[in-house]
Amino acid sequence: MDEKLKNLQAKLSKAYLGGGEARIAKQHASKKLTARERINYLLDEGSFEEIGALVTHRTKEFGMEDKIFYGDGVVTGYGTIGGRLTYVFAQDFTVFGGSLSETHAEKICKIMELAVKVGAPLIGLNDSGGARIQEGVRSLGGYADIFFRNVQSSGVIPQISAIMGPCAGGAVYSPAMTDFTFMVDHTSYMFVTGPNVVKTVTNEEVSSEELGGAETHSTKSGVSHRSSVNDVACLNDIKRLLNYLPQNNKETALHFDYELNDEFRDELITIVPENPNQPYDMHEVINGVIDTDSFFEIHRDFAQNIIVGFARLAGRSIGIVANQPMHLAGVLDVKSSKKGARFVRFCDCFNIPLLVLEDVPGFLPGTDQEWNGIIVNGAKLLYAFCEATVPRVTVITRKAYGGAYDVMNSKHIGADMNFAWPTAEIAVMGAKGAVEIIFKKEIKSAEDPEAVLKEKEAQYAELFANPYSATERGFIDEVIPPEQTRRKLIKAFSMLEGKRQTMPNRKHGNIPL
Ligand code: HXC
Repeated sequence: MDEKLKNLQAKLSKAYLGGGEARIAKQHASKKLTARERINYLLDEGSFEEIGALVTHRTKEFGMEDKIFYGDGVVTGYGTIGGRLTYVFAQDFTVFGGSLSETHAEKICKIMELAVKVGAPLIGLNDSGGARIQEGVRSLGGYADIFFRNVQSSGVIPQISAIMGPCAGGAVYSPAMTDFTFMVDHTSYMFVTGPNVVKTVTNEEVSSEELGGAETHSTKSGVSHRSSVNDVACLNDIKRLLNYLPQNNKETALHFDYELNDEFRDELITIVPENPNQPYDMHEVINGVIDTDSFFEIHRDFAQNIIVGFARLAGRSIGIVANQPMHLAGVLDVKSSKKGARFVRFCDCFNIPLLVLEDVPGFLPGTDQEWNGIIVNGAKLLYAFCEATVPRVTVITRKAYGGAYDVMNSKHIGADMNFAWPTAEIAVMGAKGAVEIIFKKEIKSAEDPEAVLKEKEAQYAELFANPYSATERGFIDEVIPPEQTRRKLIKAFSMLEGKRQTMPNRKHGNIPL
C-alpha cells in the first residue's frame, strides 16, 4: 500500500507543478499568478476540490507522446466563495501555453455540466494561446463543445469569465457568451485575429494592447465589463460581483437583514441644478438612494451616458440602469442602448429587481447613429424592458423626452411603480424644439420672431415641462420630494417582492439582435 500511495503522491506532485518550475517563474515574471494560485486566492481557503488532476492528452503526432503534463493545461473543480458553492476552471499557461486540447475541453465541459445540474455559478479563468495547434480539428471540436454548453447554461447559472493572459481565436467566443468578462490591465488580450494577421489582411499596424487589451475592450468595444490593475484585483472583483447574484435562476440573491429607519436623504434635494441644461452626476443620485458604498458598477468606462450596476437597497440586491447627464447629456445612442439592454436581460434572468433613474433628452440624432442602426439597437433596450418580469421601478429626476420616455421603463411597457421628482419634464421634446415645429408659420411671419418664440416656449414649458400632465393620466404614480426617494423605493421594492408574472407560452421571442 505504501508504494501505491507514494506513486499516487508522486503523480499529484507532478500535476501540481504544471509545466514545471522554470515556466512558473516565467509566469511570475510576466506579473501573472499561476492557475492554482488564482484558484486558491479566489476560493475560500482550503475549499478547493480538484477534478481531473491526472488527465493527460491523447496526441501522438509531433512528438507529443513524450510531452505529457498531468492536468493537460487546465485546473478544474469546485469550492466555495463566501461559503457558497462555485465551480471553477483555470487555464494553466505553463502547460502548452494553456492551449485547448480535446481532453482540456472535456475537463471544462465536465464541470460546466455539474454546475448546471447542481445550480451554482461557473467561473472561468482564461489564460490560453487558443486551439492546441498539434491537435487540429479535435481542438476546434473541443471549443464548440464548450460554446454549446455556455449557451445551454445561459440564464440558468451565472457564468463569469476572467481574461488573465492572451485569449485569441476561438478562445474569445466562450467568454463572449458568458454573462460577464473581466480583464487585467497590460497582461490580458482578446482578439479574433492577432496583430500579425491584421497587418497581412488590412495592412494596419497595431499592437496587441491597442487591438485587444483591457483598456480597448473596457472603453471602445465594451467586450470587457470591468478591468483591474492585476490578477488579485480582478479576482476580488469577481468575489464582489457574486455577492449580488443568486446561485441560479430558481433562486434570489442573498439579502442581509435591515431595519427601516426614517431613510430621508437631504443630500438628494440639491442635486438637480436650477438650469435644466446644466449637467449633474447621476452617481450622486444612485449613492443617495442605495445602502452606503454598495454600488458595483458594470461597464464603468464604456458608453458612459448610461450607468449600469448592482447595489443593495435595504440589504437586498438590485440592478440599476440610469441615464448620466454628465456624458452626452444622458442621451440614448447605439452603445448605451446595447449596454443597458444586456444588463436588463441579465437581471431579469436571475431575479434581480430593476431600478431605473431617468434623465434623458431623447435618442442621439445623426448619420453616424442612423447608419450604425440606432433603430434596431435602441429597440434592444426597449425589448429588454418590455420582456422583463422582475419588479421594476422608475424615478424620473428631470428629463423624460420623446421615445426615450417610453423606452426607459415607462408604465406603458410594464414598470410596476413610476415616481417623478417635481423637477421632472415629461414631454415629446424640449420646449424650444417643439414650438419651432408647431408654430413655424407664426414665428416666421411675426414682426419680432424671437419674442414670439420665447412666448410660445414659455407656454409649452408651463404646460409640459413638469411631471403633472403624466401624473394626471396615471403614467406616473406619485410625484415625490427627492429626500423621500430612498424610503419610497425601499417600500416599493418590498411591496413588489412577491411579484409573479409570466410571459405568453412560446419557444422564445425574437429580440432585434
Ligand atoms: C500549442 C502553444 C500554443 C498553441 C502557445 N503554445 N500557443 N502550444 N498550441 N496554440 C506553447 C508554446 O509553444 C510554448 O511552449 C508555450 O505555449 C508558451 O508560448 P510562448 O509563445 O513561448 O509564449 P508567449 O511569448 O508569451 O506568447 C504567447 C502567445 C503565443 C501570444 C499565446 O504563444 C501565440 O501566439 N500562440 C499561438 C496563438 C494562436 O494562433 N492560437 C491559435 C488560435 S486559432 P513551450 O514548450 O516553449 O513552453 C484558434 C481557433 C479556434 O484558437 C477556433 C474555434 C472556433
